[in-house]
Order: sequence, then C-alpha cells, then structure tokens
Amino acid sequence: MPNVSYETLKLPTGDMAKRRTFLYGAAGALGFGGSWLAAQQGFSSTSQQTYGSDQGLVASKNHLSNDDNRRASLSDRAASKGLLYGATVTAHRISSDASFAACVARECNILVAEIDLKWKALRPAPDQFDFSRSDRLLDFTQRHNMQFRGHTLVWHNGLPDWFESTVTADNAEQFLRTHIQTVVSQYAGKMHSWDVVNEAILPAHGRQNGLRGTPWLSLLGESYIEIAFETAAQADPDAMLVYNDFGLDYDISEEERKRTAVLELLSRLQSRGIPTHALGIQAHLHGDLTHFNPDKLRSFIQDVASMGLKVLITELDVSDRRLPRDIDTRDRQVAEVYEAYLTAALAEPSVIAVLTWGLSDRYTWLTHFQPRSDGAAVRPLPLDDRLQPKRAWRAIADAFDEMSERDG
Ligand code: XIL
Repeated sequence: MPNVSYETLKLPTGDMAKRRTFLYGAAGALGFGGSWLAAQQGFSSTSQQTYGSDQGLVASKNHLSNDDNRRASLSDRAASKGLLYGATVTAHRISSDASFAACVARECNILVAEIDLKWKALRPAPDQFDFSRSDRLLDFTQRHNMQFRGHTLVWHNGLPDWFESTVTADNAEQFLRTHIQTVVSQYAGKMHSWDVVNEAILPAHGRQNGLRGTPWLSLLGESYIEIAFETAAQADPDAMLVYNDFGLDYDISEEERKRTAVLELLSRLQSRGIPTHALGIQAHLHGDLTHFNPDKLRSFIQDVASMGLKVLITELDVSDRRLPRDIDTRDRQVAEVYEAYLTAALAEPSVIAVLTWGLSDRYTWLTHFQPRSDGAAVRPLPLDDRLQPKRAWRAIADAFDEMSERDG
C-alpha cells in the first residue's frame, strides 16, 4: 500500500465539486478498496472487514455509485448540500495523533475548539492571554480549508482558578469586556461563529426569567448576556454570534420549559436590539431515551427561525451508557438516534451546520463524564476508537444525503 498522507489528498481550494472529483479520483488511482479510511490508516484486514459489514447499507443507497458512496466523506456530503459538518477537537490531539488528525481533515469542513478557547485555557493569570493552542487550531483549519468556530466566551464552567478570588461586582464588567474584546479581536475575520454565551438558561434554578445561577449572573445580573453579545459584535462584525445550550431535544416537561425559556431569552435580546444571529442546540442525546418527538424539535427550530435566527447543531453525540453491552446492539441503537434526530433537524432549512462533540470514540468527553457501569468503553461518535466508520457514521451520511440543499 502506498504511504499516503492526508495532505496529499487535500486540495487547496474551496471548490467542493472539484474537490470531490479529485478525492474519488485519487482514491481510485491509489487502489483503495472496500474502505478508504482503512486504506489511509493502514488498518488490518480485520478492521476493514468490520467496515465491510456495513456494505449492505452502503449498497442500499443509490444517490452516488457504490464506490463513490463509500469514499465520500461527511464533509463532502454536507458541502454538496450547502451544509457544514465538523467536530470538536483539541490542539493537543491534533498535534499528537497524526492518524486522528488525518481523519479530522478528511471528514470535517468546520472545527470547534473543545477546551482551547475556554477561559481556563486562555487566561493563565488575570492580566495574561495565551493563544498558543487556539492559534494552532486556527492554523490547522486554514491549512485544510475548514471553517473555525469559537467556544465559548461566557460560561459558568471552565473558569480559571484565580477567577473567584479576583473578579468582583466592581470589576466584573471590565473583565468580561476585556476578555471578549481581546479574544474575539485575535480571530476577527477568521471565525465562522462564536458561542458567545453558553448554557445561561436553567428553569430548574427557579428564576422567573429562566436564567441559571452562575458567577456572571451574581456579579452582573442579566446584563452580562447583553454585554457579551455587544462586545463580541464590536470586536468582529463578521462572525455569527450564537447563544448555545443543551437540554432542548426531548419531549419531556423539563426540556419543554427550557425551550420556552430559551425562546423568551432570544426574544428579549432581539427586542433590545442585541446582536444575536443563531441558536446553538448542543444535542447531547441518549441512546436509551424514547422521548424524542421529531415534530416538537421541528416546531422549536421553526420558532427560532421565525425570529430570523439560524440554527446550528453544535455538540451532537449519543451516549450509550445505559445500552446493552453487546457492541452491535449498541451501535445500531446509537445510529438510529443519530438518523432520527438529524432527519428531523435537517428538514428545517434554518439548520446550517452539524458538529459532533468529537469525531472518534478514541477521544470523547463521555468516557469521563458518562462512563458505563460495566466498564466497557463508550461508543457515542461516528468513528470507533480505531478510527473506523461505524453505523453512526453511516446514519449521519444518510441524513446528509437525504436532506434538501440549503439556499446558502
Ligand atoms: C466539555 C469538554 O468536552 C471536556 O473535555 C471538558 O473537560 C469539559 O467541557 N457542553 C459544552 C462543552 O458546552 O463545553 C462541554 O465540553 C460539554 C458540554
């Protein structure tokens, strides 16, 4: 097998049609057989057979010829519909794991920083900024013709250790403005979008306005949200400014209350003329939950769109922590959840991007945050821990293939 790095397969152009032809042509010329990914990674025939077991699924789709269908990446499938597909990564993993980086470069046309743009990563001390890791991520996206998303400017988690003893009601506004001004300016003109405020709503905290109790709320009241969006807009007038939250997916009363509170927040911001452009729906889903109602999700997305806002699915993954141990059963159920969710969401033209919270089971926050009680490794993402496409990958590919084109 020729030793091919992903670099040699990537074109320095944004012309997706040309790029697709090139990728298929290059793969064909190099004699890639049943699994382009296995071929690129040099995996054993056993792992190729694992992917080969999905061939029946592949053959059942006729949007592309079988060969092309097998080789088209998620990014190419998404791009052909005017959609962005990407994942969250860290600079550390991109630099330290070349096989993983190659998969990211192949499968994604947008990346989001998992930790490198959070306060804790950027702010070693109250008067310091460290952009070394986020700059490396930006560089990676630029070398691979991808878009870059910023996550996140205001969040109650991921604050540096010095925060609590340093930030007071007297200086909080200045800290917030300086942080956003400095960070957003650093990447002005280079960011697709910013998650300006993350997870500000939590009706369970009992406030009339649905706001979550956070350090920022205690220090500044609700105005922290307005200050954040206004400061971000001044620092980068071109970036799409996003309000991002979780718990908006299921047909249960708790999430219905949260959807209502998010809509009310977005509406308050709009009525005050605060620049907000999109809602980020995190979509951390569960393989065992049966409360998904596609009509409810679609009607929520329609309500957001009717305010003139776009929607991004920003952190999609499907936890298998409560599914049976058998891998085939788990993978099928996880894939079903991906397909049902994306089919509903992508039927809404306002949804312009889908990002999974990770690309491969090799690196997923759920390993630590939602481990299985039987100790088996979790399998929530499109590629397995050997970077092989799973049924979840196929489900996402199918959802992209079946959606209608975006207007742009
Ligand atoms: C998580 C990261 O994946 C972890 O590595 C980190 O330790 C904690 O944060 N919602 C969000 C993300 O908005 O920032 C979180 O990311 C996952 C939940």
